[in-house]
Amino acid sequence: MTLACGIDIGGSGVKGALVDLETGTYSCESVVIETPAPATPDSVAQVCGELLHQLGVTDDIPVGITFPAPIIHGRVPFMANLDPSWAGIDVVELMDRHLGRTIVALNDADAAGLGEAIYGAAKDVPGVVIVTTLGTGIGSAIINDGVLIPNSELGHLEIDGHDAETQASAGQKTAQKLDWVTWAGRLQRYYSHVEMLFSPDLFVIGGGVSANHEKFLPLLNLRTPVVPAKLRNTAGIVGAAYEAARAAHK
Ligand code: BGC
Repeated sequence: MTLACGIDIGGSGVKGALVDLETGTYSCESVVIETPAPATPDSVAQVCGELLHQLGVTDDIPVGITFPAPIIHGRVPFMANLDPSWAGIDVVELMDRHLGRTIVALNDADAAGLGEAIYGAAKDVPGVVIVTTLGTGIGSAIINDGVLIPNSELGHLEIDGHDAETQASAGQKTAQKLDWVTWAGRLQRYYSHVEMLFSPDLFVIGGGVSANHEKFLPLLNLRTPVVPAKLRNTAGIVGAAYEAARAAHK
């Protein structure tokens, strides 16, 4: 079995697991530690160290870590939903200092997109697939013929004068106590706009809320086929582990 470790840094929890790369599934129970408050780079890096320890990750196992921000050659340009002190941080250098090892860093939605492209709903799908994750924010991954175009940040498209994720994320559904029909109306506006811009061949909808996909996906009226993510909440960790192993074997 080829193993790699994936860690997903989120607003409420930092989660990690060992992944069996042949099947794209966890090979152990995942471990979750509450995201420290404030979620500064140093405090989150310490939590990552604790996770690696609890998972028993040895030096020979590649580690991929996802961040809820674009990662441009290891650096975070801006941070929408965690502590703003992440802006400008080189996360590879940060983790090197705290963990004593080189990690692979990637955007959380890009990692989920990779997970779906290699093992899930976007596997072997030709053309342009857009994977979105509906959570606190809206994450996006654009994949063309299986190749990821990183850092697309389509959750921050400006639609009707608003940053899209402030209207249509799953976090906003909860915060504003929107019922499924009202929320689906906001998703309709969002996905029609993305469809008009990119003409994708497939939308894959992920994030925790995709477990309830039958409550909102049938309400959407789009030209593009829409399917729920197959890997659900594991896609980001699986994609990060996959990418770490790929980088290690380059
Ligand atoms: C961030 C993205 C991230 C998404 C989901 C957005 O606010 O800018 O980088 O992928 O939230 O976490």
